[in-house]
Amino acid sequence: MNNVDLEKYFKPDLNQARKRSKKTVEELKFQLDDAHEKVGLGKTYKIDTYGCQGNEADSETMAGILELMGFAKTEEEHQADVIIINTCAIRENAENRIWGELGRLKAYKRQNPNLILGLAGCMAQEENVVERVLKKYQHVDIVFGTHNIHKLPEYIETAMFNKERVIEVFSREGEIIENLPKVRQHHFKAWVNIMFGCDEFCTYCIVPYTRGKERSRSKDEVIAEVKELVKQGYQEVTLLGQNVNAYGKDIKTDDYTFGDLLRDLNETGIERIRFTTSHPHDLDLKTMEAMRDCKHVMPFFHLPVQSGSNPVLKKMNRHYTKESYLKTLNELKETVPGISVTTDIIVGFPGETEEDFMETMDLVEKAQFEGAFTFVFSKREGTPAATFEDSTPEEEKKQRLYMLNDKINAGYLKGNERFVGETVKVLVDGVSKYDDTVLAGYSEHNKLVNFKGDKSLIGKIVSVKITLAKTWFLMGEAL
Ligand code: 5AD
Ligand code: SF4
Repeated sequence: MNNVDLEKYFKPDLNQARKRSKKTVEELKFQLDDAHEKVGLGKTYKIDTYGCQGNEADSETMAGILELMGFAKTEEEHQADVIIINTCAIRENAENRIWGELGRLKAYKRQNPNLILGLAGCMAQEENVVERVLKKYQHVDIVFGTHNIHKLPEYIETAMFNKERVIEVFSREGEIIENLPKVRQHHFKAWVNIMFGCDEFCTYCIVPYTRGKERSRSKDEVIAEVKELVKQGYQEVTLLGQNVNAYGKDIKTDDYTFGDLLRDLNETGIERIRFTTSHPHDLDLKTMEAMRDCKHVMPFFHLPVQSGSNPVLKKMNRHYTKESYLKTLNELKETVPGISVTTDIIVGFPGETEEDFMETMDLVEKAQFEGAFTFVFSKREGTPAATFEDSTPEEEKKQRLYMLNDKINAGYLKGNERFVGETVKVLVDGVSKYDDTVLAGYSEHNKLVNFKGDKSLIGKIVSVKITLAKTWFLMGEAL
């Protein structure tokens, strides 16, 4: 591949990515150019996805676009004509894995010089990543970010026919692109984007820089998508956004917000509605009441708290205190009795003292979480927290993580134990990883349930009587 003029590339710029304006968000419609329709005929693609559900959904769009171009899916790397790595930038260890993968894929490029290797997703939005790819990963042909997935046909064409390297990453607030094709991973549960981007700017987090401004899809588009899924036989939708509780707040023409959307989607005929992820500061009573009133909205809430220490929460720019978080949580539990709540927690944020950490432990005790994703703080270049003084040794941070995980795991078990003897409804996902006579699926409260049953039940909702609770799953018998 030619690589002479580094300046011809469109590289990311963190200073641009940080900016937010009051400009109205443009809505564009994707349409495949006639010229791109047959580019992939007789050729195959493979997409490797890392990170969050947002990336899972984006990969479904990339697959949709590639299949419109005529490419067929393959799982075999050595056969693929196009391989795209859809990356995650949230923590350093996620990135390290991806660098390793990119190195490994070089061998396939040697075997098949026509192979097109693409790097997409949040890592592509980082300045230092693109510099490193330019200098040290010459075998990567295409780098594109989260804002220009719809331009994939053009990029493939340029790399394939002009044999040119394409680096095009936009650091802007972003538009909304509708009419994007999708090849969905599952046939009975689906991701549905309801908004993009994030304006919270938590000081540790790279997402507002990689995903742009908070922008909501129109309710008509979302409702139409869910209705279409119902027609196709889907049972469950998971509404996606970095902060779904802010849904609609960027559309100033009416006061339609997340609670209204839940009520409207409840009427579409979809059996189950889930959503992720939420910000405590935007969670309102209207949402809680919609959850209470809508039988298709599942009694489960992932409500990231990040820390139980007020000074740390302030340094994280989270806009709430330990006390106000617990107050919101209690309101939620009172409004939606029996709801299961999980969270995200970061330990070892710069300057976190032993005392701060104990505040987190205390909050976990009081909140009675039934699960959590826990992380050690990871420094992300370009974010404010990357410059904060951090003198806690890594070993001490790990010890805090272990201590926290013990408490979290006790919460998992307690949350599972409350269902022993109860009958729960399980949407069957597939067979268990360990035994193919055992089915596995999730209950309404998002508990993993295993029970003996026939494979024909996959994709169906089955009543299961719970007989045993373990930390990570429940066992039961189909009724
Ligand atoms: N370091 C560690 N964890 C992080 N998260 C986001 N950014 C970082 C970081 N720099 C965690 C938060 C968030 C989840 C998706 O990832 O807990 O809720
Ligand atoms: Fe990151 Fe905070 Fe936005 Fe979540 S709310 S994506 S943690 S900046």
